[in-house]
Amino acid sequence: MSASEVTTTARNYIAGRWTGTADGAVAVLRTPATGAVLGEAPASGAADVDAAVRAARDAWPRWRATPAPRRAEIFYRAAELLVRRKEELARLMTREMGKVLAETRGDVQEAIDMTYFVAGEGRRLHGYTTPSEMPRKTAYCVRQPLGVVGIITPWNFPMAIPSWKIVPALVCGNTVVFKPAPESPLSAAAFVSLLEEAGLPAGVLNLVCGGDEPGRALVEHPEVAMISFTGSTEVGLQVAARCAARGVRVSLEMGGKNAAIVLDDADLALVTDALTWSAFGTTGQRCTACSRIVATPAVRSELVERLADRARRLRVGDGLDAATEMGPLVSEAQRARVEHYVRVGRDEGARVVVGGGRLAPPGLEGGFYYAPTVLDDVRPGMRVAREEIFGPVVGVLEARTLDEAFEVVHGVRYGLSASIFTRDVNAAHRAAEELRTGIVYVNHGTTGAEVHLPFGGTRDTGNGHREGGLQVLDAFTEWKSVYIDYSGRLQRAQIDRD
Ligand code: UN1
Repeated sequence: MSASEVTTTARNYIAGRWTGTADGAVAVLRTPATGAVLGEAPASGAADVDAAVRAARDAWPRWRATPAPRRAEIFYRAAELLVRRKEELARLMTREMGKVLAETRGDVQEAIDMTYFVAGEGRRLHGYTTPSEMPRKTAYCVRQPLGVVGIITPWNFPMAIPSWKIVPALVCGNTVVFKPAPESPLSAAAFVSLLEEAGLPAGVLNLVCGGDEPGRALVEHPEVAMISFTGSTEVGLQVAARCAARGVRVSLEMGGKNAAIVLDDADLALVTDALTWSAFGTTGQRCTACSRIVATPAVRSELVERLADRARRLRVGDGLDAATEMGPLVSEAQRARVEHYVRVGRDEGARVVVGGGRLAPPGLEGGFYYAPTVLDDVRPGMRVAREEIFGPVVGVLEARTLDEAFEVVHGVRYGLSASIFTRDVNAAHRAAEELRTGIVYVNHGTTGAEVHLPFGGTRDTGNGHREGGLQVLDAFTEWKSVYIDYSGRLQRAQIDRD
């Protein structure tokens, strides 16, 4: 490791300048792999947010007036830079939040895919024309930007999730104030710096690092026209309440408690591969992670055995090591949360088949490791079956029929993704039709959404908005209807009908 890899400093980016906070406050960052100090980032406050919002407000008229295809050109360049810097960005991300290099490369790839995809929309942003009720009158509608958009993102996808929000918000003609999670400011700053290099004008995108304080200030700022938030349901609902009080739009991506149904005829080798990946990939810290498996009695015990065997053999360690299959949790707090839930599960009567404790790989004793954990004998009413754990813990439940399995899947407040493993075409189609989640997979785990399809969930996972796909444009624009009367006389809608 070179000296330059030892500590890194993030800065805020306001009105085209990299800067510290108004009061000089900083937060220390630790690398999850060893617990060692990695660098520092601004611990911003309301004054920093206010400066960023004013910069975004001042930059808006020019940015809005820039033709969308021209705005989009910047993002084609940005995508090319992301391709070129993929490895370097992935390494930074692994050091900052812990997931293995293969996955941080995937994270950058998702940002590349999203950036190319949405840049293409700069030449579409379709509205439509439609006949008027009256002669010599034309009617059409167009998408309009909203103004200054506040973007709040989590640490588990430090580049992908910001790209889902920032790129469409900007291509649509908004300006942005971006507040990343306090755990991943370095990746956030690297992404912003790359967009700056691609040619984004000063003030169009502003970065304010920190925790709850700048987050709250952003949500409450009177000049912020919309908030796009990804994080926990608990915080998301507070954000929504504050936005409701100001009457501004909010797009929410929140918790999940995603389930995979495994039927009698499933290919258990495939199921084991797929669910090991869905449950323990990103150390279980995905909103799409599989945290419940609903198996029929005929396959349950064999599946539990296969999963436990795999979990036992997973190589847990530093994500920078190419041999590592699962990295640490992002922080000590996150590890304590996982420990707490496993304790709750034990007390509720779940059986810890494998895992269920901290790990301290040699030489990495200060890191935030937890063993991949499989819980069996989980019942639908248990807290470990209903609440989001956000760690490498998967619970196995039983259902005798497909209908009973649907009922178990639906017995939680969340509705992000669900999956079914079966070779029965009827069961597969029934699942696609009847599962009330935003995403359904057949013969695949619960993770792995692609950028050009809508991403989001039902019930307490979201509030109806979607990211990804063309649907993301609906979050970041509002419609304007235009009527042009070229008859030269007064024509009254709904009145003059001859
Ligand atoms: C998240 O966990 O917050 O579908 C996002 C997936 C990824 C995105 C996950 N493409 O698992």
